[in-house]
Parts: sequence; C-alpha cells; structure tokens
Amino acid sequence: MQVVHTIADLRAALRPFNAPALVPTMGNLHAGHLALVKAAVPLGDVTVASVFVNRLQFAPHEDFDTYPRTLEADCEKLAAAGCNVVFAPSERDMYPEPQGYKVQPPAELADILEGHFRPGFFTGVCTVVMKLFQIAFAEAKGRRTAVFGQKDYQQLMVIRRMVKQFALPIDIVAGPTERAADGLALSSRNGYLSEAERAEAVQLSLALRALGRDALAAADGLQRHLPALEERAMQGLAARGWKPDYLTVRRREDLQPPRPGDALVVLGAARLGTTRLIDNLEL
Ligand code: PAF
Repeated sequence: MQVVHTIADLRAALRPFNAPALVPTMGNLHAGHLALVKAAVPLGDVTVASVFVNRLQFAPHEDFDTYPRTLEADCEKLAAAGCNVVFAPSERDMYPEPQGYKVQPPAELADILEGHFRPGFFTGVCTVVMKLFQIAFAEAKGRRTAVFGQKDYQQLMVIRRMVKQFALPIDIVAGPTERAADGLALSSRNGYLSEAERAEAVQLSLALRALGRDALAAADGLQRHLPALEERAMQGLAARGWKPDYLTVRRREDLQPPRPGDALVVLGAARLGTTRLIDNLEL
C-alpha cells in the first residue's frame, strides 16, 4: 500500500489505473470505516482511502483541534482491509489558500437536522468531498466510485444530491452502519466516551428503535401523533442525562416530515456528557 501526502503524488499513483474506488475519511478509523474499504475493493481497480480532518466542516467551538490524528495506526488497518493507496494530505496541500469557493447545498436538505445544529457543516463536507472527487477521479477513464457510510444518513443524501445536480460521473455507494455487540453505532467519537458513558451510549439507538416502533404503530394517524411521539422520545433520553438535539421520523426521500405512505427513517442526535452522537434507522 502506498501512502501519499500531496495531490500531485496521488494523481501520479492513480495514473496507471482506470477505475478508482474512493473512501473519504477523517481518520481515527474503526471497523465501520474498514467495512467501507472492503466494500470498495471489488468496485474498482484501485482502492483509495483519504484521511483528512477537514477544518471547513467544524464550527469554531467543535472538536477540530482535538479530533484524534492516528495516521500510523490507520494505515496499518487500511492495508489489512485491502486499501491500495492512502491519501493523507496536509492542510496546506488541500487548502493552499483560503477556500473562498465553496459548494453550498440547498437549505431544505442541508439546514435541517444536522445542518440546523451544525450550521455550515454540509457546506464544509460538500466542499471537501467535491475537491477529493476532483483530485481522485479527474484522470480516471473507467468507473468512478465513492463509498460513504449510512450512519451519516443526511450526509450521504446531501452528497448523492450534489453528484446528481452537478452531473458528476461518480457512483455513490452506501455502506451499512456497523454496530458494537450492544448495538451502539460505531463512530470515531465513541472514543471520547468514559466507561460509564460507553455503557449508556446504546440508549440512543434503543430510543430510535422505540420511536420507530411507535411511529409504525401510529400508522394512519402518524402526522397527528408524531410531534408527541418525538417529544416523548427526547424526554426519555433527557431523563437519563442526555441532551438530545433531535429524535425524529422523516421520509427517506428528502428527510422532510412524512406523509401517509412514505418510506420512513428515524434519525437522532444527542449529547452524552461532552460527546455528540448520531444514529439512524430505516423503518
Ligand atoms: O464522514 C466523514 O468522515 C467526513 O464528513 C468526510 C465525508 C470524510 C468529509 O470530510
């Protein structure tokens, strides 16, 4: 496996290949990321993982400075998962001058849920992902594939929409959420949890599951009952010491409030101590 740090070196490393499969990450890799890499391997003739903590998607009060940088360990894991090339650029290489041009996703998709609680987050994500696509795929002659985790459900949707609206010739493939034995969705931020918080953390996915069950039981009356069901789910977590941002049932198509007959997804974000966790579940 080759590890490259500059855009020029990545392009040179990819030149002999036709069909790169890219897995963008911010490093501090866990089994969820490695499952994405393994899913990417058969989709191209070279598997590339990017490891870059993207300042643009962090608000000033968030954990950009403390986000774990574990490149050496990440590379060992990536090699074992079948990755061929790791792209680990410096900030100076990715953003040699202030990134004035940005990709701004539509408010109706990007300013709700995660985007409401993390203003500018999806602009930061789209901007870096667009740039990674330009870097990894510009010279590809065959199929171009990028794999993203379904745990970041809204992010996946925002990226799919970006690819569609810009007519990018890239297949976006979703990798299912990997979970610990107790059901906690794997996340780099789980590493911030204390032992007691780690034992508690699965309650977010249990609360989403319960909300999903309640939503399905409400069936035809869902629109009427949903606000109360969501409020009850949030209060349940709050009573256990969490600070929920949202627990909500949305339609899968565009994450808007559901109408009768829509396919549904339950999404949630809540803070446990100082750690903010997210999860989702398709119904
Ligand atoms: O999901 C992530 O880890 C990041 O948002 C991504 C897609 C690598 C962009 O920085």
